[in-house]
Amino acid sequence: IAAYAAQQAAHPVARQAQMPAARLTVLYGSQTGNARRVAERFAAGAEAAGLPVRLVRAGAYAARELSGERYLAVVVSTQGEGEPPDDARGFVEFLASRRAPRLPALQYTVLGLGDSSYPLFNAMGRAIDGRLAELGAKRLAPLAEADVDIEPVAGPWADGALALVREKLTRELPTASVTPLRPAPARPQFHRERPFPAPVLANQRIVSRHADRDVRHMELSLEGSGLRYAPGDALGVWHRNPASLVDAFLAVLALDGQTEVTHDGKGQPLREWLVRERELTRLSRPLVQAIAERADSAVLRAALENPEALKELLTSHQPIDLLRAYPADWDAGALVAALRPLTPRLYSIASSPQAVGEEEVHLTLAVVDYRAHGEPHLGAASRWIADTGEDATLNVFIEPNERFRLPADGARDVIMIGPGTGVAPFRAFVQERQQAGATGRNWLVFGSRHVADDFLYQLEWQQALRDGALHRLDVAFSRDQAEKRYVQHVLRERGAELYDWLAGGAHLYVCGDAAQMAKDVHAALAEIVATHGGKTPEAAQAWLSERLQDGRYARDVY
Ligand code: 2AM
Repeated sequence: IAAYAAQQAAHPVARQAQMPAARLTVLYGSQTGNARRVAERFAAGAEAAGLPVRLVRAGAYAARELSGERYLAVVVSTQGEGEPPDDARGFVEFLASRRAPRLPALQYTVLGLGDSSYPLFNAMGRAIDGRLAELGAKRLAPLAEADVDIEPVAGPWADGALALVREKLTRELPTASVTPLRPAPARPQFHRERPFPAPVLANQRIVSRHADRDVRHMELSLEGSGLRYAPGDALGVWHRNPASLVDAFLAVLALDGQTEVTHDGKGQPLREWLVRERELTRLSRPLVQAIAERADSAVLRAALENPEALKELLTSHQPIDLLRAYPADWDAGALVAALRPLTPRLYSIASSPQAVGEEEVHLTLAVVDYRAHGEPHLGAASRWIADTGEDATLNVFIEPNERFRLPADGARDVIMIGPGTGVAPFRAFVQERQQAGATGRNWLVFGSRHVADDFLYQLEWQQALRDGALHRLDVAFSRDQAEKRYVQHVLRERGAELYDWLAGGAHLYVCGDAAQMAKDVHAALAEIVATHGGKTPEAAQAWLSERLQDGRYARDVY
């Protein structure tokens, strides 16, 4: 240790670290990984430019440190109805509170990541940007707001912010210290922009013949990829749009797939754009806007002005529905420009590398397929993935989720709430805890429609119970009786025991649907904490917020 300290002291960078002011802090609040990725790239760029930089996630940042900062770049996403990422709650609350210090010495810039299909677009980016100014900090650059297509905004924001910080920091720092602190962390050979073609080892339907929904258990090989994952991480998959869907677009718009289209400096036939590079199943506000203009539709224009109507439109239609309902003259180039770029889908990993081997990864996939507006609709990605035969490959990458992790202390109890395919990461957790010989108890709460049709991984859970790898299993089958029965009903029934586990330090995880399930489960948890913990409803909410912040309550919801 002494030798290390001496070596550090002799290094110019170490001396400079004692003046924390003269550096750039890149702070990110991320739920699904996008903000983290942008922040990491930005920090790597700053480092490559020779700037002293510190990259930190909001949950690991003591907000009091703000008074010691001089240059701050914030990348933050907004969830659902204008909420912060779970990890950034504490930071946002501190900033909004009266405890927040004046920040006259701080210069900052904020990049907000949002989704314009929600009424409160980028609420968090706006709030943080505004509040820092209120506290006396000075904007280096105006707030940048990215929509789901992040890069066109994030790229220029990063370039601009970096140039500004560089100019300022270079003036302040002795030239000798403006050198890279350390080499940029080695990026895995395969990543989001360069996915690994993973051979499919198994693709099995794991629901009965009678199930109204197809769910697959898939096993992929990562052999030779160098990719590594931990339980809690997601697998990113790049899909292609099915030919039937592409044909439907071409037919509805009377366009020729062979037409050459140049967009963003790239030229290829329209069909190629639609198969590989454009989002065909997700509607977005900008697309509604483009259709409204082209079809000169008063109805769509009105919907764009009315958050409720827009929400209804966005959640119950696919792009093809609107293109059919609001006919207009589209040329191939306009169509490519109006559609969002294809984005990969993320699936919570259902295996532990300790149990299945480091070079294998499992997924649990629900195939989206339904009829609406008189036409079949399919989830392009899930259909594509489910149709991948054994021995074919899928283009994949690992999307780490450091916030959804088993407790480091194996003696802690864990409670896992995962209805539907939300059970996937808990299969990984139970495998991992068994392999690691964790002594804490594992409690799984699962829900699905019918015990006979879609009790996912039923035999494995029963085996785990026998092996002592699972200590409690509670199930809610929603459609096996007249009244709907959901996981939150089970939680309420077992409230006293659940609170006992929590009071004893148990970690709590929720995975699955964000729109309804996660909210209803959260409400049930608040009730349980209030009733069995003798707290007021406000105190119970505050207690849950603290657990979200310190990570003992973690959600992987989508
Ligand atoms: P349902 O489809 O019968 O309404 C997995 O998809 C399970 O989650 C299904 O049994 C589904 O029930 C159930 N589910 C639907 N909405 C839910 C909610 N708000 N909270 C909890 N579970 C829900």
